[in-house]
Amino acid sequence: MSTLPPVRIGLLGLGTVGGGTLTVLRRNAALIAARAGRRIEVVCASARDLNRPRAIDTAGIDLYADPRQVVDDPRIDVLVELIGGIEPARELVLRALANGKHVVTANKALIALHGNEIFEAARARGLVVAFEAAVAGGIPVIKVMREALAGNDIQWLAGIINGTCNFILSAMSDAGSDFGEVLAEAQRLGYAEADPSFDIDGIDAAHKLTILASLAFGIPLQFDRVHVEGIRNISADDVTYADRLGYRIKHLGIARQQERGIELRVHPTLVPARAPLANVNGVMNAVMVNADAAGPVVLFGAGAGALPTASSVVADLVDVVRALTTDSENRVPHLAFQPDTMDQPPILPIGETETAYYLRLLAADEPGVLADVTRILADSGISIEAIMQLEQDADSASVPVVILTHKVQEKAMNAATARIEALSSIRAPLNRIRVENLA
Ligand code: NDP
Ligand code: HSE
Repeated sequence: MSTLPPVRIGLLGLGTVGGGTLTVLRRNAALIAARAGRRIEVVCASARDLNRPRAIDTAGIDLYADPRQVVDDPRIDVLVELIGGIEPARELVLRALANGKHVVTANKALIALHGNEIFEAARARGLVVAFEAAVAGGIPVIKVMREALAGNDIQWLAGIINGTCNFILSAMSDAGSDFGEVLAEAQRLGYAEADPSFDIDGIDAAHKLTILASLAFGIPLQFDRVHVEGIRNISADDVTYADRLGYRIKHLGIARQQERGIELRVHPTLVPARAPLANVNGVMNAVMVNADAAGPVVLFGAGAGALPTASSVVADLVDVVRALTTDSENRVPHLAFQPDTMDQPPILPIGETETAYYLRLLAADEPGVLADVTRILADSGISIEAIMQLEQDADSASVPVVILTHKVQEKAMNAATARIEALSSIRAPLNRIRVENLA
């Protein structure tokens, strides 16, 4: 073992991930030191409310209510930011970099929105900003994309990258559970964001997709170009009907290189029941990367929770410790590509993307309605793969109809949807879900 002094850490946040990080650093201290070559010691930490009872033992750690006292503590070599959100996290991270500290963060919102600025500040000072925990919790997806797949042209990636959404959709599928109750359970287990609408409205997944797309394609982080949809409109009926057609509904982040540009989109998606991603349930996440040399690579593991996320935070700490003696020009670039080689291809508007569709419509139970609908689809160049008329409610004169289409450009589907919804025999707005076979 090295005779060098321990590497000293300042920790911002003693919540789910902060607590998990302390637990892992303590529990596996000897193993981690053997791998890093030096001991890692947390010397100070901050939380908003120092009187809050906590399950973790903070003996021997100086605790501050003001996070700036951690950032400005001259003893620390590395700042670990586990507060979340944009401010004060952004200001604190930039201040730590200005103080010459390396940074480890699990904050995907911060990296997706301000990563370009933060990495530039780090690069100017020869410092590392590591963020493995920001995407897919305990899955080492950043490391794989940045290092293990460095020889590949990545054509597309698709991932279940929000544990809370997957937990809710899985429970709806398995037990027909109530949305609100399952969300409350995800919050109790520490999976959800401080504001859970970030999870269920797809924003958290869009933060993560922004990061993955940048690593995959060598493009700047551009969160505002991601098309984002959440899972609020998915009903138990959709889950059941998709199942009958041989599909599961998953909330996916998809980034794909097309000839004309790059697709960046987050939305509920029907995937064939036999596809690997269809069988990823509960809080588990999975990212499928289609790379030209390696072929399809699927990474699977816990996407949220204290210890899985802490595993990634600690792995980053070990990487930072190992990198301390490396010339900063020879470290793995923050976003996989050398900054002066970053490209700026167009990001395609969602109307230009092509997918198949699941359509659920509520139609008057009268002759000719289906003929009208199928004529509109045919006029729009949309071909039908399957059509299923479902049981009529006892107290209703309407019947649900589900249609699966072949691939079509989204703008053609938008036009067809408007025409179908305008039919007097159609009783409610169409429910549309994109379908991907992920082949
Ligand atoms: P928590 O809410 O559990 O913990 C946040 C911690 O930061 C708390 O200790 C809190 O203090 C402190 N804090 C919050 N706001 C401030 C502030 N304005 N100033 C100073 N301290 C503050 O969050 P998590 O541990 O769940 O998440 C931390 C980060 O990790 C987030 O970026 C999140 O997105 C990310 N992440 C979370 C995962 C998870 O499974 N939970 C998985 C992957 C990433 P106090 O305790 O006194 O309230
Ligand atoms: N709220 C996030 C999720 C935490 O549910 O996936 C992990 O990033």
